[in-house]
Amino acid sequence: MVKRFAVLTSGGDAPGMNAAIRAVVRTGLSKGAEVFGVAHGYEGLQAGEINPMDSKDVGAIISLGGTVLRSSRSPKFKRSPARTAAAGHVRSLGIEGLIVIGGDGSLTGADVFSREQGIAVIGIPASIDNDIPRTDNSIGFQTAVDTALDAIDRVRDTAYSHDRVFVIEVMGRRNGFIAVEAGLAGGAEEILIPERPFDLAKVCQRLVAGQKRGKRSSIFVVAEGAIKAAAVCAFITKETEYEARYLVLGHMQRGGSPCAYDRVLATRLGHHAVLRLMAGGTGEYVGTSANKIVSNPIREGLATEKPIDPERLELAGIMAR
Ligand code: ADP
Ligand code: F6P
Repeated sequence: MVKRFAVLTSGGDAPGMNAAIRAVVRTGLSKGAEVFGVAHGYEGLQAGEINPMDSKDVGAIISLGGTVLRSSRSPKFKRSPARTAAAGHVRSLGIEGLIVIGGDGSLTGADVFSREQGIAVIGIPASIDNDIPRTDNSIGFQTAVDTALDAIDRVRDTAYSHDRVFVIEVMGRRNGFIAVEAGLAGGAEEILIPERPFDLAKVCQRLVAGQKRGKRSSIFVVAEGAIKAAAVCAFITKETEYEARYLVLGHMQRGGSPCAYDRVLATRLGHHAVLRLMAGGTGEYVGTSANKIVSNPIREGLATEKPIDPERLELAGIMAR
């Protein structure tokens, strides 16, 4: 039974990470474990920024965006000396396991660290990109979608008022999950994502056909990994008579108070991650499948694909007519 473990947040922060930290700490304490917090992700792990945590340290954080433990991207951790230094700090405190809250890169780093250093790890998927396979959603995705949707709804007001086309670029790194979900919810006329080929000439033909039917304004949602909003806007301006504008939502999608869904998901996953770690599990990440809690091997799980739901893609096309 693991009785002393640490928790850290790593990679791109996501709304709901604090709810997960809270669940990890409170579950561990309720099971009689000693819980430690690592500051600044893998940078802090290799620097020994590891301190005990108690229940009051996670009081009133469930509604906070970001991460009270801070996060980092740490290229050094991709090399063995940094991981060995990290393991030295972990062992010097008698810590037997690590819970890592982060995206696919962080979970990969946890698996590499565990296999190399023999320290148990359990991952919790947290990334607005939602690009982690074998879990319905990763923590932060639904909140990021709500943030993008709020922007889409606001922009539609001014697009309507001025008969304009607006191109809104959302995050997602190499994936289009945010673009599809927010675009569908926002009634976007076009959704451009890396997972589905598109032809800007055909997009503009549809735009002109809509104009002939009296459609005076449109909203396009584009995923950052597919194309830059500025490029789409320039193409529309050149190829059609529409006035076009664009905006890049950027890092605002990473912030904000987590929605109810993300708070409950984070609480469930944080609780289950501790149960798995204390029962001797390692090299796994928790998640939900059809809303039921599951656990998957990190290496195997991250090696699988996470496709965009074809039904959502079909709906997006039909609804924009
Ligand atoms: P995210 O977890 O949001 O996907 P990153 O891809 O930046 O964010 O990964 C977070 C950190 O995880 C990296 O900065 C690095 O420290 C660590 N990491 C990622 N991949 C590896 C790897 N193959 N080996 C060791 N550490 C890794
Ligand atoms: O992985 C989350 C994410 O927000 C991606 O959607 C985005 O491309 C990336 O992080 C931005 O990275 P950074 O915060 O390091 O600029």
